[in-house]
Amino acid sequence: MQEKDEKLMEKIISLCKRRGFVFASSEIYGGMAGIYDYGHYGSLLKDNIKKEWQKNMIQLREDVVGLDSAIFMHPKTWVASGHVAGFNDPQVDCHNCKSRFRADHILEDFGIQADKATLEFINDELNKLREAKKLLCQNCGKACLGEARVFSMMVKSNLGSPVDILDEENIVYLRPETCGGIYLEYKNTLDSLHPKLPFGIAQVGKAFRNEIAARQFIFRTREFEQMEMQYFHDPVDTNSIFEMWKQIRYDWYLLYGIPDDKLRFYKHEKLAHYASDAYDVEYDFESMGGFKEVEGIHARGDWDLSQHSKFSGINLDYYDEANKKRFIPHIVETSAGLARMFLMFLDNAYTEILSEEGETRVFLKLDPKLSPIKVAVFPLLKNKPELVSNAHDLYLELRKEFMCEFDDNGNIGKRYRRQDEIGTPWCIVVDFDTLTDDSVTIRDRDTGKQERIKKDEIAAYIKEKMN
Ligand code: GAP
Repeated sequence: MQEKDEKLMEKIISLCKRRGFVFASSEIYGGMAGIYDYGHYGSLLKDNIKKEWQKNMIQLREDVVGLDSAIFMHPKTWVASGHVAGFNDPQVDCHNCKSRFRADHILEDFGIQADKATLEFINDELNKLREAKKLLCQNCGKACLGEARVFSMMVKSNLGSPVDILDEENIVYLRPETCGGIYLEYKNTLDSLHPKLPFGIAQVGKAFRNEIAARQFIFRTREFEQMEMQYFHDPVDTNSIFEMWKQIRYDWYLLYGIPDDKLRFYKHEKLAHYASDAYDVEYDFESMGGFKEVEGIHARGDWDLSQHSKFSGINLDYYDEANKKRFIPHIVETSAGLARMFLMFLDNAYTEILSEEGETRVFLKLDPKLSPIKVAVFPLLKNKPELVSNAHDLYLELRKEFMCEFDDNGNIGKRYRRQDEIGTPWCIVVDFDTLTDDSVTIRDRDTGKQERIKKDEIAAYIKEKMN
């Protein structure tokens, strides 16, 4: 058994910054809490996760179609969904240092489960801790934490002409979840593509939440991406469909190298009033000391379509010709956070081994399909123009098919280490033999093993290993 690495989060954050995966946003202005930018390798890794999700959820299915809906929606959308009235978190302020905390997180630190608890319960529990002189600010250490208050997580903006921009009626919300757009486009999808139940609509996009305590790097942020799919079905099938999607989504993680023993389901005991079942897929984050949610699978009943039908006045029924019945479809949703998956893949991939020479080798053992760069090409020596041009020509050829890098900087060992750190699965060295026999050395990131192969076999070799 490998030992837990207490410092893994620090190491991941440092690698992300050093190697251009993730940067804290607006750093030159002092930064913005809970907002991050993705650099070259980060944006490539994120795109690859997204593509693999879309491939499995849309391309390889006959019953799911795609969508890319707008971030802004009619403000009534969020009244109908209940977000304007009820998308809140309990907040506690420190009167001394002005830090702000999630009240339920404070209670969790004392072993009190307060997820979705009432404000009354939360304040009662906080009072007990206060009386026992245990309620101290996690930032300044003073006993200055106030009462818990409700804090809306909706992010507001304004749309309109410059004169009336500040009017209340021009307020719009940045969507707090992407599924809202799917419900609004259910009817257009039905009318344009004529899918038969059961069918799903899937999309990837930005969501915004005014999180009180954005924390744990990119795990909980104020701007993030979700990969959501809503599966519309006849309510008689809810149980089997729910089980089907639970299994499909769990298996997805195994496909991309997440070990079975680092995954589990968490069953929600407290459900939203419209939901009949809800599970989270949790991953055992070494960087955060335990299992945390990466994805939710929810049976939402007919709540969403019924509410939007009621608030818009538009009929959102489905007519089932085979059974001659008309009804509002029920929905099973799968909802994953892209940044959480990104962090999960890094957490799982980060590997350190001590070489015989006593040096620490750091590499990202990412599934090659997810790796930002698939192959790097090096000339053995920088000062031999015939090797450099041969290797560069090979790079120009390979980059037509794969994200590829050319590197002739520093010794070969350093070049390997640079690629290891960004998770490049294969490195190719062009040497003097290449000039006469057109073969190269290809080195595997995880085993360090080297093979000799012909230049014109490289593309097929990589494709075979990736599939
Ligand atoms: N439509 C259902 C929905 O949005 P959720 O449990 O609130 O459900 C689903 O969110 C997923 O979105 C979570 O499992 C998580 O991966 C991701 N997520 C939610 N809030 C997030 C945040 N503030 N930062 C990053 N990811 C977040």
